[in-house]
Amino acid sequence: MHNRIESIQSHFTSELTTSSTLADLEIVRIKYLGRQGILVDLMTELKMLSHDDKKIFGPLCNKLKADFQELHQAKLNQLYQEEQNLLAQKAAAFDVSIEKKSLQGSLHPYTHITRELEDIFISMGFAIADGPELETEFHNFTALNIPQDHPARSESDTFWLPDLHRLLRTQTSTVQIRAMKKNTPPIAIACPGRVYRNEATDASHDFMFMQIECLYIDKQASVANLLAVIKEFLQKLFGKELKIRVRPGFFPFVEPGLEVDAECPFCTVGCSTCKHTRWIELMGAGIVHPNVLIHCGIDPKIYTGFAFGSGLTRLAMLKYHISDIRMIHSGKINFLRQF
Ligand code: DAH
Repeated sequence: MHNRIESIQSHFTSELTTSSTLADLEIVRIKYLGRQGILVDLMTELKMLSHDDKKIFGPLCNKLKADFQELHQAKLNQLYQEEQNLLAQKAAAFDVSIEKKSLQGSLHPYTHITRELEDIFISMGFAIADGPELETEFHNFTALNIPQDHPARSESDTFWLPDLHRLLRTQTSTVQIRAMKKNTPPIAIACPGRVYRNEATDASHDFMFMQIECLYIDKQASVANLLAVIKEFLQKLFGKELKIRVRPGFFPFVEPGLEVDAECPFCTVGCSTCKHTRWIELMGAGIVHPNVLIHCGIDPKIYTGFAFGSGLTRLAMLKYHISDIRMIHSGKINFLRQF
């Protein structure tokens, strides 16, 4: 029995010494101190000894177990500390800034161009106005001189609420009405915002896009003023003076109504952006119709005004050379990161 105890002791000591990880140490613990381990076997053997031998070896076996537990605990503490130090070293070597860089966001092209347009209009003396995207039929159609059953209503099919009186606005021209009802002239506002149409999606159409609306009401406001404001804002946005071309156009809320094209800012002989025409259709505009003024409680005998509305989505696509509207609305990180 004596030899057996010594042999167990020396094996345990050498196995404990060579354990270099917590996992190694756990194997040694199970082998010697586990429920079916060597020390349990030793105790079973002890029971089979004579009374006198039990008196000698009993305390030895108990001491062996206590020593093993103590040695095991000491080794456990040592290995645990070593592993903690290793983890701390690895953590210190980990460069958090790498991860941070890849997670950094960027501003959406809409945010860039909206901020730029707002700055441009503010620099020309306009205030920035806002209105709800969920609008009433009155603001989106009736007050804009588009009565019920007018064919212009079906041209801009949109999403109606079940009450058939509220809808997702089809144009930012609604904000003209809100601004005129709230303020007394002179009024000068610009309003960037989201609009909706019941459209099939392709490279240049989506059911949601952005417009910017501009309204000026005063005692004397002319087509000449309108064109001067348009030229100035285009020059500021594209960084160079662009020729504009004006054609007659029909919009129920202006009379006369105009379609304004700008010279292509990207070529001199025609390119894919201007479809080789040298001109880009940019906006609808005109002199505010007297019926619209009357709807808003403004006397058309005293006041007159001009308005124009342009596709902010289109302006962004032109300015940033984006060929497909679906990219702007996709939320794709690789695309958005470029801005
Ligand atoms: N609201 C029109 C549209 O969505 C654009 C427009 C045309 C706005 C003429 C105007 C305007 O202010 O005078 O197509």
